[in-house]
Amino acid sequence: MGRRSKTHASEQQDSPVARAQWDSAPATLPTARPWATVAALIPFPSWLAGQTIVDVGAGGSDAVATLLAAGANAFGVDPRYRSFPALVRDVAAYFAAHEAVGQMPQSHEPSAHPIARQRAAFQHFAASFQDRRSAAHYRAAVATQLPFATDSTDFVYSLDCITQYLDREYELLVAAVLEALRVLRSGGRLVLVPFRDDVFALGYHPVRQQNQQRLLQWLQQVGLHGVVEDLSPTGLTGSSRLVIVAR
Ligand SMILES: C[S@@+](CC[C@H](N)C(=O)[O-])C[C@H]1O[C@@H](n2cnc3c(N)ncnc32)[C@H](O)[C@@H]1O
Repeated sequence: MGRRSKTHASEQQDSPVARAQWDSAPATLPTARPWATVAALIPFPSWLAGQTIVDVGAGGSDAVATLLAAGANAFGVDPRYRSFPALVRDVAAYFAAHEAVGQMPQSHEPSAHPIARQRAAFQHFAASFQDRRSAAHYRAAVATQLPFATDSTDFVYSLDCITQYLDREYELLVAAVLEALRVLRSGGRLVLVPFRDDVFALGYHPVRQQNQQRLLQWLQQVGLHGVVEDLSPTGLTGSSRLVIVAR
């Protein structure tokens, strides 16, 4: 356990659903997407200063550090924040493994290039995580138990977490969406990327695909406004994103 152990109420593993997420998180990829990529995929509010923004499954991305520098009251949530040394170890192993691959399938450049960008983003993240002025903006918690009050945030997003891992179980997916909606103020937005992942077209992850479709039906049933937006014009992915407006 790192320096945050036993310090934050969000680490309470008091439900089987939460405990299962703490247990399974180490098996997920510890990526560190740079701000430029995150900003191209997530439709942040045009005015960031003063906005309370939560990144669910923030990993080693430097998006929260960048949002803080822009004046947003941003928070990263990730069970991996429980131990900084373990996070550094996992990220280093992930970077080394991907550099060793040489070139990823469907990629146009050697894997060393995107990994170099992720290394730089991780350094930026690590400086912010360890800085006592911003450390409280990184919370060790899971998606279904966010450490924020009801109606307290303006914008919640999740990049490669809720609709990459939690959508493998429909109840978990809905629980994560309900929890994000709980912490959002009326009119706030929840953004989930990827949605209708481009790997679905190749026949991968049929369960995720079914669960995402069920989520859309559920949104309609409960009268929530959800829009699926195509991300292919970004040139970064052929997937889409789901934007849900909180009531
Ligand atoms: C693929 S990474 C994405 C990281 C970052 N969003 C990015 O785009 O680089 C997935 C992250 O989700 C975190 N994670 C896994 N299960 C989670 C859960 N139940 N709640 C919150 N975060 C979770 C992992 O620890 C990991 O850092």
